[in-house]
Amino acid sequence: MRAAVQHRYGPPSVLESSEIEIPMPGRGEVLVRVGAASIHPGDYFIMTGRPYVVRLVFGLRRPRNGIPGRDLAGVVAAVGKDVTALRPGDEVFGWSTAGTLAEHACVPVDNLVPVPANLSLAEAAAVPTSAMTALQALRNIAKAQPGQTVLITGASGGVGSFAVQIAKALGAEVTAVCSTRNVDLVRSLGADHVVDYTTADFTRTGQRYDVILDNVEAQPLSAVRRALTPTGTLIPNSGHGGRWLGPIGRIITAHVLSGFTRQQLKPFTSVETRDDLLTLADLLATRQLTPVIDRTYRLDEAADALRYIGAGHTQGKVVITL
Ligand SMILES: NC(=O)c1ccc[n+]([C@@H]2O[C@H](COP(=O)([O-])OP(=O)(O)OC[C@H]3O[C@@H](n4cnc5c(N)ncnc54)[C@H](OP(=O)(O)O)[C@@H]3O)[C@@H](O)[C@H]2O)c1
Repeated sequence: MRAAVQHRYGPPSVLESSEIEIPMPGRGEVLVRVGAASIHPGDYFIMTGRPYVVRLVFGLRRPRNGIPGRDLAGVVAAVGKDVTALRPGDEVFGWSTAGTLAEHACVPVDNLVPVPANLSLAEAAAVPTSAMTALQALRNIAKAQPGQTVLITGASGGVGSFAVQIAKALGAEVTAVCSTRNVDLVRSLGADHVVDYTTADFTRTGQRYDVILDNVEAQPLSAVRRALTPTGTLIPNSGHGGRWLGPIGRIITAHVLSGFTRQQLKPFTSVETRDDLLTLADLLATRQLTPVIDRTYRLDEAADALRYIGAGHTQGKVVITL
């Protein structure tokens, strides 16, 4: 099968289009013929091996698994031992740690759920990591509720475009922070108010919010906290930061500050769960959630797709279609 493969950390040019063997599904696994796979900034960090802290998890000298990508949608091609929940021909979407920028991927059966009938494979592939991050941040960590005010930075990006819609579905009044070219997009996703960061600074408007989901890290925590109510919740959700530790410095600062204020500063790491994927599938089926696809690329254009992600200006999601 064809796959995007990297043998060392580095810029997108380390990706090669290679011919490799189709993997065999093990016990409890399903072989998926990948129809589409989406990528996000985390895939970029793992490809480059920067911040260096990612190498502790993904391989010190070179990536342990040479195929990038985590999110996918496709058709079940074969099932491994003890798999009864899915059959060849079923359309599924979910996540895999085995790499998804390939024609086939082996995926634990519990990481997959049926594709809602109203969605294409490309739309379904856009969902798992980014939408689960938005869901867990707003529902589990911030406990956003009807009547609360929620501000989302990076509202036009992968996480943000889902977060605006999920915050609305939770009943909150939503303010989206984006640039001029994305104002119409975030309004179409349901934002009640928009702050255009090219002409206004949300930390200096005097407005305060019950919840801030900061996907961008364009401002120091001290500035962002000015826009938070005295007992509000701030989720610093950016994976950027220094080249060694990435977001860890900001995470530590947030934890230390938490001890000195009634404001809730809550960095978190999303963890994919089947229950949350099923919740998202319901929101998609009832059209409370619609993936925004910025660009699609072919598998042999994977390096271009990751280059585009690395530039940090996506409008919604970037999807590889096969
Ligand atoms: N906690 C976790 O477990 C977890 C999980 C997934 C992702 N993340 C992190 O979440 C962050 C967001 O991910 P993503 O996939 O949404 O990234 P993304 O798709 O690359 O977001 C890019 C968006 O941010 C906008 N943007 C850039 N500067 C901005 C500013 N100053 N104010 C407002 N918007 C701005 C860009 O719009 P313009 O082009 O108009 O500037 C673009 O639409 C990343 O740092 C990622 O690592 C964390």
